[in-house]
Amino acid sequence: MRKLLIATSNPGKLRDFAGAAQRHGVEIAGVPGFSSLPSVVEDGLTFEANARKKAEAYSQHVPGEIVVADDSGLEVDALKGAPGVHSARYAAPDLENKQPHEASANMDDKANNARVLRELKDIPRAQRSGRFVCVLAAARDGKTLATFRGTSEGVILDSPRGTNGFGYDPLFYFPQIEKTFAELSAEEKSKYSHRGAAFRKFLEWCDDSPGN
Ligand code: IMP
Repeated sequence: MRKLLIATSNPGKLRDFAGAAQRHGVEIAGVPGFSSLPSVVEDGLTFEANARKKAEAYSQHVPGEIVVADDSGLEVDALKGAPGVHSARYAAPDLENKQPHEASANMDDKANNARVLRELKDIPRAQRSGRFVCVLAAARDGKTLATFRGTSEGVILDSPRGTNGFGYDPLFYFPQIEKTFAELSAEEKSKYSHRGAAFRKFLEWCDDSPGN
């Protein structure tokens, strides 16, 4: 079975990757010693820039191996694409006055969700469209080999629904199957999610470039 190194400490992301990988006969592992490696400052203006930065930095700790990193988030149209690359720390009290990467560390999911709900308070359902975006970067020895983008289109609810998943999942309603992402099983999430879509593109790339 092919083994894949993922650079993340986010248990929600690891669960999603493991769910998606299982369908393709791939085993997921964390980068060895990940928690003790210096963390990467996510100061890129795009998901792609941050994903590349993480994959390049962490791949230098495992010479010769391909390391995959993900940068992802929620874009809400009525909020002009926010929280976007700031998704993990949207509720940080100092986000307004600083460059995003200078703001406090990641905030908890509840606080981030509460800020999105507050900002969408008077916005009718028809204007609450948004999408999850995931960009994966695959790097080896500090160089990006390729990037892969996946998106899922949905609607932001006015209260949370469901207990699975993480992050903004309980607010993200996916009309295609009439469930929020927090109501999906691991298998459904890998089938419909932005992360699953990006991961499938990555696996196709692996199959098409056996030298990697
Ligand atoms: P990152 O670690 O900088 O990529 O932050 C990603 C943030 O975006 C997470 O902390 C979540 O708030 C949000 N996010 C990304 N993917 C998902 C998902 O699949 N479900 C729910 N929230 C997500």
